[in-house]
Amino acid sequence: MQRTHRTRLVPLHVYVFLTLVILSLVAKHAILLRLTSFAVFNEMDDTSPFNFSVGVRLEPKKQRGVEVLVLVSSMPQEHRLRQQIRSSWANLSKELSQTVRVEFVMGRGKTKETQRLHEEHRRHNDLVVLDFDDAYYELPLKTFAMLNYKAKKYLESKCLVKADIDNVLLLHNYQRLCEETVAPAILGKCDVPRGVFRNQSKWAVPQYVYPFSLYPPYCSTGTYLLVGAKLPKRLVESALSSQFSTSKNFRMLPEDVIFTGILSERIGVRRRHVGAMTFSEVPEFVCRNGFRHAYSIHMSRDKNHVKHHRKLLKVEGTPCGFF
Ligand SMILES: *[C@@H]1O[C@H](CO)[C@@H](O)[C@H](O)[C@H]1NC(C)=O
Ligand SMILES: *[C@@H]1O[C@H](CO)[C@@H](O)[C@H](O)[C@H]1NC(C)=O
Ligand SMILES: *[C@@H]1O[C@H](CO)[C@@H](O)[C@H](O)[C@H]1NC(C)=O
Repeated sequence: MQRTHRTRLVPLHVYVFLTLVILSLVAKHAILLRLTSFAVFNEMDDTSPFNFSVGVRLEPKKQRGVEVLVLVSSMPQEHRLRQQIRSSWANLSKELSQTVRVEFVMGRGKTKETQRLHEEHRRHNDLVVLDFDDAYYELPLKTFAMLNYKAKKYLESKCLVKADIDNVLLLHNYQRLCEETVAPAILGKCDVPRGVFRNQSKWAVPQYVYPFSLYPPYCSTGTYLLVGAKLPKRLVESALSSQFSTSKNFRMLPEDVIFTGILSERIGVRRRHVGAMTFSEVPEFVCRNGFRHAYSIHMSRDKNHVKHHRKLLKVEGTPCGFF
């Protein structure tokens, strides 16, 4: 009895073991295949000149006297997050709202979204809805559209803050930074690692897209400050006369690398690292004349602007001391 039992068991173990080995090999192969087939870059680059002119479906009336234009990259369906921003960090004091203006930039979204966007815009007058399909428009193209919007409509404003929907900013600090910085310059978290990621992954950058092993210094976290009224226009022109307009692969590089790195380097604009613009949701503070100041954070899973804004304000302006 015992014996037959054992002889039946041994092949079973072997069978289970072999099945697992085979399955894991198949899985590994499948993952590699998947990664390859979903890679963002294509060896057969699309080099046809891209048509960058897009229509505008909705836009606010121009506000006079704006020094700092803040454009938040958004998507049509993000009503809730936009509302949180309006009731937290974009709810400016009367004084600050004379010179700082916050608008949300997005594509047109689904047809059923249109009515709601119109209503939202009627109520808040802060949406820029452009005539492209948001689901298929890449982030670098959206940043390009934002720079172009600034160049066309707010040409004389000294500064542009580009932000993502999951950034939380203290705008009075950005305004001061704008005022005191000599143009042209790009300010942000510009001390990020510059190594080009080449290993097997969906986002690996092949040599035929970017041949060097380091990017130029660039500014990460999704938000950065462009100082200089003409700077957005110069970046737009630089984009149009570069690979940005003739290589789809190039336009798939990260938007911060393209605009604050490669194109800024090309037109010779310096990038300056500023502390206290963090990539995580844990605030950092710089000490200035004895007091703490923060610029921005980047929320991860817990997307709650109101809460994070409160957290930032709690420490902002407190004396730098022993704790
Ligand atoms: C580019 O697109 C715009 C509308 O989005 C259109 O009016 C224009 O004719 C296009 N230009 C070219 C060269 O195709
Ligand atoms: C903005 O702040 C003021 C007072 O600080 C408050 O009364 C108002 O309700 C706020 N607006 C929004 C949209 O939350
Ligand atoms: C990429 O792969 C190389 C070897 O193939 C390895 O030395 C390196 O550490 C890897 N880099 C990353 C970021 O995984």
